[in-house]
Parts: sequence; structure tokens; C-alpha cells
Amino acid sequence: MKLKKVNFIMNFVPVRLTTLKSQIPFTFDVYVKLPHKYLLYVRNGDDIENESKKRLRKKKVKKLYIEDKDEQAYQQYLDQCLDSYLDDPNASSEDKANFGAGVAESASDDVFEKPQSEQSYKKAKRASSSLVKMLSSNDEVLKTILSRVEQGQGNELDKLKAHAVNSSSLAIRFGEYMGLGVSELEDLGVAALYHDIGYKELSEAGQSLFFKDIKDADVASLSSYKEHPKKAVELLQDKPFAAENVLDLILTHEEKLQGAGFPQKLQKLSLVQEVHSLCCHYDRKITLLGEDSNSVVENIMVDQLGAYSLEVMKKFKKFITALKTD
Ligand SMILES: [Fe+2]
Ligand SMILES: [Fe+2]
Repeated sequence: MKLKKVNFIMNFVPVRLTTLKSQIPFTFDVYVKLPHKYLLYVRNGDDIENESKKRLRKKKVKKLYIEDKDEQAYQQYLDQCLDSYLDDPNASSEDKANFGAGVAESASDDVFEKPQSEQSYKKAKRASSSLVKMLSSNDEVLKTILSRVEQGQGNELDKLKAHAVNSSSLAIRFGEYMGLGVSELEDLGVAALYHDIGYKELSEAGQSLFFKDIKDADVASLSSYKEHPKKAVELLQDKPFAAENVLDLILTHEEKLQGAGFPQKLQKLSLVQEVHSLCCHYDRKITLLGEDSNSVVENIMVDQLGAYSLEVMKKFKKFITALKTD
């Protein structure tokens, strides 16, 4: 491998190491970032070797870089990687999960950084449809995604981005378990990546409630917090690329049965709305509040009685319990 010094005028965008697959040749140049320059690392036409990936991982390198003109080519490359994972009977659940999580994490970054851009939405759609395929009837992949190391380390925004990836994966797999169809699962995956983007539009007090039990909150903070589903939809509602079903799921992600949720205090929910609300509720407790899975599932069966239908809650408990024991 020859390292070539690169001109600074080029614009670079990060790509996650976990999304690069060996034996799939790149159709673009890939760079590493050094303190003061980018260096050509793998040339267009070559692929990344597993050994190089391991070496980079050891050095804690998480992202490589491509030129921004090559983004489209990178997206097509991701499709090729996905097909290759799906066709390969020897692909490990870990590799599949790392790839799926990498694509979803990268989409989650874009969704939170540029929530109104069409490019972010396209990335979220691609991530969701990749997750639908990767997670299909595969609890190992879901387990690996949910237990990935270093998730949500960093600031509050990093935690929210991880929560978006987890809720998306969980809603897709639990939705499948509940018998939902592929297009509903894809909508769920996209909506869950966006569901809390309203966070950035709130007062500081409202934002802090994402990470606390809201039972003890004062009125002003709580009323700000309860605006977040509407604020999220306001960011997207005039965008022709945003699907109506997705906007509906974002708006209703804090709704429960019998008027126990917000903002509209709906009395009834469709199955897909209920799956979304329950998965976002469960993962908030784990990823944002730091509770453990067993107590969250037990508490849901008690605290949320009437908030979700009994059948959905029972199946959720069975689903989560099976994830941990098989
Ligand atoms: Fe929320
Ligand atoms: Fe959430």
C-alpha cells in the first residue's frame, strides 16, 4: 500500500469502517485522515482487506473518508455489500450486525445533524430497508446491534442517535414478530430514526427530560418536552420526500391507548403505531435512562397496563425474554 499526499481542495466525507466489506472492490478512492492531511488508503478498483480492517480497528479508527463527489458511488457500493451479506451463508451475524448498525448509525448522524435534508431521508430509507433485510427472522443480528460497544458514549446528542438506531432495529424486528408487512417495517425503521429529532427545537429544561423520569418534572419543562413529537413533524411536513405514514408514526410515538400519551391523547392506536410507541418507550428506558432490560420489561407489564394492549405487551415480553435466553 502506497500512501499518497492529497491536495487540500478536495472535500471529504466520512464513511464508517464497519460498512466496508472485503472482496467488494471500491468504485472510488478511500482515504485515512491524519492530523493535518488525508492520505489515499485504498485505490479505486481495490478492496479493503480484512487484515487492514482489523488493524484500523485496533488503532480505534472508526471512519475512513471518501471525496464528496463519490457519495452516490458509495451508496451503490453499500447495496452491493448488502446483497453480498445476504447471499453469503457463511457471513457471521456479527459482521451482518456491524454492517447494519454502521449504515443505521451513519443515517442517524445525518438525520440529527441535517433533519430537513432529502439526502438524510434517503439515507434513512436505505438504512431501514437494509435493516429489514438483515434482521429478518434473525435475533442474533438484533442482539448484536443492541449490545454494540461504545453506543451512545459521549454527549446527550450521541445518546439520542444511538437510541434512534436501537429503536429502529427493535421496531423492525418486533414488528416482523407481530406479523407486519415489509412496507410497514420500512416505515417503522425510518420513523424510529427520526422520532426524537424535535429534541433540538426544545428549551434546555425540555431537553433535559429526555434523560430523566418525567414523573418528577415541573410544569414548564414538561410542557416543553411534550412538544417534541409535533416539533419533529414540523421540520418535515412540507417536504415532498417525507412519506405520510412516516410522519404519522413520528407524531404518534409518545401516544398510548386510552388517552394516556401525548400530544393528541389518542384513545386508540393501530398495531404499527403501538409497536413503534412501545419500542421507543422501552429503548428510552435502557439507552437514555440507563435502566436494565429485565426491570424495564417487568415495569412495562405493571406501569403501562392499559397504555398498550395486553396482547402486544405479553408478546413484547416474550420477544425480549427470548432475545436474552436463546
Ligand atoms: Fe420521544
Ligand atoms: Fe425516543
